Amino acid sequence: MDNVCIFDHPLIQHKLAILRDKSTGTKEFRALVSEIATLMCYEATRDLPLTDVKVETPLATADTKMIAGKTLAFVPILRAGLGMVDGVLSLVPGAKVGHIGMYRDPETKEPVEYYCKLPSDVPEREVIILDPMLATGGSAIDAVTRIKSYNPKSIKFMCILAAPEGLEALTKAHPDVKVYCAGKDLYLNDHAYIIPGLGDAGDRIFGTL
Ligand code: PRP
Ligand code: URA
Repeated sequence: MDNVCIFDHPLIQHKLAILRDKSTGTKEFRALVSEIATLMCYEATRDLPLTDVKVETPLATADTKMIAGKTLAFVPILRAGLGMVDGVLSLVPGAKVGHIGMYRDPETKEPVEYYCKLPSDVPEREVIILDPMLATGGSAIDAVTRIKSYNPKSIKFMCILAAPEGLEALTKAHPDVKVYCAGKDLYLNDHAYIIPGLGDAGDRIFGTL
């Protein structure tokens, strides 16, 4: 899958191992989700457009580069995506943040949208959707479809763990969306949870287990 980036960086793998551990408590879990999001964001922003600028150093004029224009909007999928927002904003503090609210119906496993608020200048921005878990892919696919209707310049999807089923479904439904995941797991269980996974990301971030 050309459009999928799976991270092999030792820092990410180390933090992911602690994240998976059932004995990791809410405080540490939340901090790790944020840190992994920061590390992933570094790579996901690699192709941001640059513009030439001149800067006066104390000694001379430097012909250098800065990120061009309005750039990014991050869109976390509520709830669990909220856990990644601080981490990405620590690298791109000027980015705008939209929100899309979705939950999976526990019976059908289908996503149900309950909220959507995006920045009004989304057509001038690249959107990075944030959600720690890509399981069946239903939530990600619907979120991308919804955000596409606002005509952003481009869309990327950043998750911490992906199931093969979700990756396949998302890249098939939206082949133009580049997907970044910290780890690719083995399969989905009968409740559409990622195995081995890390459990319910929203519950572990917010302590609602
Ligand atoms: C989780 C997760 C994703 C979704 C992934 O959210 O954060 O949004 O499930 O599953 P899918 O790929 O099969 O659609 P959940 O429905 O548990 O809602 P929450 O974040 O509010 O707890
Ligand atoms: N949502 C989660 O939080 N965890 C999973 O394993 C699947 C969906």
